[in-house]
Amino acid sequence: MAAHGASREPIKFAYWVPNVSGGLVISSIEQRTSWDIDYNRKLAQIAESVGFDFALTQIRFTAGYGADNQHESVSFSHALLAATERLQVIAAILPGPWHPALLAKQIATISHLTEARIHVNIVSGWFRGEFHAIGEPWLDHDERYRRSEEFIRVLRGVWGEESFDFQGDFYRFHDYVLKPKPLAPPLIFQGGSSRAARDMAARASDWYFTNGNTPEGIRAQVDDIRAKAAGHGHSVKIGVNAFAIARDSEAEARAVLDQIVEKAIPEAVAGFHHEVQNAGNASPEREGNWAKSTFEDLVQYNDGFKTDLIGTPRQIAERIVALKDVGVDLVLLGFLHFQEEVEFFGKNVIPLVRELEARRLENASAA
Ligand SMILES: Cc1cc2nc3c(=O)[nH]c(=O)nc-3n(C[C@H](O)[C@H](O)[C@H](O)COP(=O)(O)O)c2cc1C
Repeated sequence: MAAHGASREPIKFAYWVPNVSGGLVISSIEQRTSWDIDYNRKLAQIAESVGFDFALTQIRFTAGYGADNQHESVSFSHALLAATERLQVIAAILPGPWHPALLAKQIATISHLTEARIHVNIVSGWFRGEFHAIGEPWLDHDERYRRSEEFIRVLRGVWGEESFDFQGDFYRFHDYVLKPKPLAPPLIFQGGSSRAARDMAARASDWYFTNGNTPEGIRAQVDDIRAKAAGHGHSVKIGVNAFAIARDSEAEARAVLDQIVEKAIPEAVAGFHHEVQNAGNASPEREGNWAKSTFEDLVQYNDGFKTDLIGTPRQIAERIVALKDVGVDLVLLGFLHFQEEVEFFGKNVIPLVRELEARRLENASAA
């Protein structure tokens, strides 16, 4: 397949931080993964030693569909940064509960404490029940994105301008001076796949994170975002979610997927399905995350089976390079047994991806 604007840079690898209990699949299958800090510190150290670039924390304010305990994302991210030397950590942030002045200040300080290894993922909310539980107004889908975009503009202004003035519909600032500024501008990621999400990425974010999908499904989003971003003189990178099952044989890996789905907790998956209709399907075009998800897809919170990184290390490496061909810059990974599988993936899949990337560069320069 012809490369479709594939970056010459090595593709980046991130993993989901299990700071929420219950793992990454809604299934009673054994998950040798823990949400506690000791497990997570060790996981972060393993990840950086085997070639992962980023770790992404989750933000949840209440339980639901298996997430009985949920550690807070900014403080947890800082703890992981303190335990590592190179790993970059992305903290998930919900506008609404967070005011951007508070976040800008928290992140500026953490930037100084960690040699600028902290970044943010601005998420716009899918869980109406959690907003209700904490007394936060639940805005309509596109209004949530309008607020998120103002939130991002405020972060850039407060971090980047000496003195910041802003008159928005959601936030106002008057000659606000943040000191110290972050050591370097933190990267701004965003999560979501609807038209409003893509439009926001094309105008405001550094990185667009989307749910798991096929290369064709991702290509359609990349084309849309790149065309719109060019119109705004902006450029944005693309990260895609995947649930990886790397085993010595493809049959073994597929058997693990079958077991995860066989042991899915039907009531919890159905409840999650009902709830996520407030997210992507509440968008005017009904195009967002989960708009087309089947029961099997929803067993993994972010449609990670669809990306199909399930098989031998070589099959997975080839599929990752195919994702790169359609414009993907980063793969975000979830696993059943995080410490063991992050290590296996880093030692057995990432080197093969690097080989395939090097071969492509050689072929391109020989052509
Ligand atoms: C990679 C990724 C990470 C996300 N992390 C969180 C999170 O930690 N907390 C949260 O409430 N929502 C999270 N979301 C959900 C999104 O913010 C958004 O609410 C959801 O994708 C629906 O948006 P859409 O209608 O634009 O698809 C995440 C989404 C993606 C793709």
